[in-house]
Amino acid sequence: MKKTIWTLLLVMFSMSTFAQSYFEDGLSSEWHSERRAELRKLMPANSAAVFFNNPVKNRTNDVDFIYHPNTDFFYFTGFREPNAVLVIFSEKREVNGGLADELIFVQNRDPRAEMWNGKRLGTEGMVANLGFQEALLNSDFAAKSGINLKDFDKILTFSLSEDIEGSSSNEPLIQMVNEFKTATAYPDALTEVSAQVYEMIKNSDLKSSDRVVQMLKRYERQYPDMMEDPLISSFMNAASPEKRMVVKEEIPEQKLDISSLGEMMGVLREIKTPEEITLLKKAVKISAVGQVEVMKAAKVGMTEREIQGVHEFIYKRYGAEELGYPSIVGGGNNGCILHYIENDKRDLSDRLLLMDLGAEWRGYTADVTRTIPINGKFNEEEKAIYDLVYQAQEAGIAISKPGTTFQEIDAAGRQIINDGLAKLGIIKKGEGHQYFPHGTSHHIGLDVHDRGTRNPIQVGMVFTIEPGIYIPIGSDCDEKWWGIAVRIEDDILITEEGAVNLSGDAPRTVAAIEEMMRLPSVLEEWVLPEID
Ligand code: GLY
Ligand code: MN
Ligand code: MN
Repeated sequence: MKKTIWTLLLVMFSMSTFAQSYFEDGLSSEWHSERRAELRKLMPANSAAVFFNNPVKNRTNDVDFIYHPNTDFFYFTGFREPNAVLVIFSEKREVNGGLADELIFVQNRDPRAEMWNGKRLGTEGMVANLGFQEALLNSDFAAKSGINLKDFDKILTFSLSEDIEGSSSNEPLIQMVNEFKTATAYPDALTEVSAQVYEMIKNSDLKSSDRVVQMLKRYERQYPDMMEDPLISSFMNAASPEKRMVVKEEIPEQKLDISSLGEMMGVLREIKTPEEITLLKKAVKISAVGQVEVMKAAKVGMTEREIQGVHEFIYKRYGAEELGYPSIVGGGNNGCILHYIENDKRDLSDRLLLMDLGAEWRGYTADVTRTIPINGKFNEEEKAIYDLVYQAQEAGIAISKPGTTFQEIDAAGRQIINDGLAKLGIIKKGEGHQYFPHGTSHHIGLDVHDRGTRNPIQVGMVFTIEPGIYIPIGSDCDEKWWGIAVRIEDDILITEEGAVNLSGDAPRTVAAIEEMMRLPSVLEEWVLPEID
């Protein structure tokens, strides 16, 4: 009897959290289908691209993290369930007795699982809701995927994650990954790094092989295991360029390609379509409102967690389904930790508060940072640092147009910050420093650090400009600067007419922030009962 109750309790509280939800105001199935067609244009002839959706990640015991699809998988499907595989063929081919240029394998409908964890689309839903011609069950992957090395000149995929065994919900995925490995003779040691190195070696010649070896030496520091590959180590240790060319010939012709798909995804995803721009604009606008409302509500004595909650409540109030990344809310010296997510400082009486948060709207995420004085007024040192960061950001925005590179945007801001820090006596002129330790720009989209090529800016790109200065306590400068951390981060859309600051609704200048902070907040009226 006791055992029965225990089992019942366990079953009652067993929580897998990949409930299905689809939004009418998200991307259409036609849009996803169009994206698959665009990928086909980039694929080599007679190839297949294989995408596994993300595994479920276990949080603890029988509680999983909220499911988030792999963003490439989502880009091509709009599908949000685990245990799914998408196969895209470069051309229509005969498969399962018919002609197809794509196949999708999904988990089955299961009334009991759906009662606990939410609706599944099943094969019929993939056709009715997501516009696929046909969908198959994941249990049929081995028999019906048509994936066999000998039938293709290339099979494109990503290096397969080893990290899928955490949750029992992943069993169908593990099964399909193993079947795929068998069908493609997937080498045990294949990693993205080794594949890229093979590619570099194969493209080398007598003249360039010295340069390749120099490059590999730099790689080696980062990936010491690389030298365990006998071909790579022989290439690097060969006594002459001629001997290197002999090693090069031994590199096997790989039909399995785990490096090209990433480049293709970068080409596709770095340019946003009008539909994506609509979603990104909404994500960014919501995030900017969060910053505005917090500027009104922030008071000495509030906690980092409470400020985080106000932002996130506003996101939810607008119906944003998720955060694009864990919220960063750092008071004083905590702001110097670039990805500070503990947010557990209880009494925010420090001077500055750095807030880097982004709502995720129908899959697309914003990335917006504002730094404010918690008491409503910047002091002299804070203002000096803030103005420097602001000028660096302005310089980056001013040159953001088609043809400019991310390196140029970074260099423009960095110059201003370097000169300014020297002028303030924080560094000596021309001296290297660690006060601006990150890059200035990255694409945003389905990922907060979205895929791209790092090619020059083009119309349709959306990226951040986010210079910062961080002076941790104990830095080698006058103590009056210690604990000052400022980042200003905006999301910039490039149009035919020029750069548009999508997050511009959130004040950015010292004067505008102080003015906003003088306004009353509705939260002042919201008094909760004391709890011991
Ligand atoms: N929120 C992470 C970043 O700014 O890149
Ligand atoms: Mn960013
Ligand atoms: Mn950010």
